[in-house]
Amino acid sequence: MSLENNSSMQVITQEFTLNYQYSVLFTRNCFDLQDNTLINLIDNLTESPKLLAILDEGVDQANPDLAVRIEQYCEHHNIESLPSMIVPAGEDCKNDETVIDDIYHAVEKFQIDRHSYILVIGGGAVVDAVGFAAATAHRGIRLIRMPSTVLGQNDAGVGVKNAVNYHKRKNFVGTFAPPFAVVNDFDLLNTLSARDKRAGIAEAVKVALIKDPTFFAELYQSRFALAEFEEKASQHMIIQCAQLHLDHIATSGDPFELGSARPLDFGHWSAHKLEELTANEIRHGEAVAIGIALDTIYSSLKGHLSVDKKDQVINLLVDVGFVLNHAVLEKLNIVKALAEFKEHLGGNLCITLLSDIGSGFEVNEIDEKIMSQALQQLMTIGSC
Ligand SMILES: NC(=O)c1ccc[n+]([C@@H]2O[C@H](COP(=O)([O-])OP(=O)(O)OC[C@H]3O[C@@H](n4cnc5c(N)ncnc54)[C@H](O)[C@@H]3O)[C@@H](O)[C@H]2O)c1
Ligand SMILES: [Zn+2]
Repeated sequence: MSLENNSSMQVITQEFTLNYQYSVLFTRNCFDLQDNTLINLIDNLTESPKLLAILDEGVDQANPDLAVRIEQYCEHHNIESLPSMIVPAGEDCKNDETVIDDIYHAVEKFQIDRHSYILVIGGGAVVDAVGFAAATAHRGIRLIRMPSTVLGQNDAGVGVKNAVNYHKRKNFVGTFAPPFAVVNDFDLLNTLSARDKRAGIAEAVKVALIKDPTFFAELYQSRFALAEFEEKASQHMIIQCAQLHLDHIATSGDPFELGSARPLDFGHWSAHKLEELTANEIRHGEAVAIGIALDTIYSSLKGHLSVDKKDQVINLLVDVGFVLNHAVLEKLNIVKALAEFKEHLGGNLCITLLSDIGSGFEVNEIDEKIMSQALQQLMTIGSC
């Protein structure tokens, strides 16, 4: 068929809409035999569905009886339980290609089909890697996420993205795949290190700064309680942060990030680079805290944000316990990091800045000289 004459072209426009819905539950002790949180989620109990539990090595080590408790829970509730899989902790899980292969292998071996369940329990990195495997095996197996870090519960585990790293490039391979459900069990956080409890607070500060001045004021007021991980303040911080992330995904009009604007990535262009430069020695949340501080100072130097408000943001981060003047900042190449972030966005450079506390806006250009000044200023800030 010749296309010389445009009138001979035929176009079929395909269009359909999908409605996604999943629950994000906040609970405690959900493997107690009498607890119905998990069981109420599973909608095909009459068929004795299969559930493959995949555990973060760090969670398994900190909770040596967890795998057995999951098996007992499944037996008690008529779910076909399979031997739990343990995967490497943290970023190793996203860097090691054999992890994905091992999960595919287990899916094949145990005949996990699209009506079976994968239950992942772990930090944001393990949830990301297992989420990628679950989304791609059989083109998508039902995934119940049970994030076990603060950052997992208030951000990484509640959204629609997953990824693994590739050739040292962060989140290079991944998909958009909403989970079947998310269960945030606060008891899982009991064994978490102080460092990992703190890291998750950065994402709450981030989302408060771009969207919700009242939440920022609450975080500021409870900053010393948060630094001590006091239960009430921490749980409020987690629920509110998760809610704001979920609201953004549901209402921004771009849940699968087809455009370039990525407000939830406030502070992340440099954070991604800092993680890479330290070979992931620095936690994602720690890098985000530094990235937030940098872009807040830049917003202020550009005249968008008052110096008082900039100081308030820095004080909050320092009082919660973040180290903002990390030695790796010496190695940050602003031009290169911005170029890589542009590639990560897949279009125009789009960086979120602050016009006020609780109000983010997008710019398509960064003044590298002023960003350098912001970096110099950041390096002089003391940690607590
Ligand atoms: N998909 C998304 O939308 C999204 C969003 C934000 C971040 N992320 C990703 O999340 C990752 C960071 O996640 P993170 O901050 O949770 O860190 P992490 O997953 O690296 O976990 C940190 C450490 O805590 C340990 N751990 C986890 N839970 C524990 C528990 N209950 N008790 C004891 N130890 C425990 C882990 O074994 C690991 O050693 C990054 O890879 C980042 O890219 C993804
Ligand atoms: Zn983040």
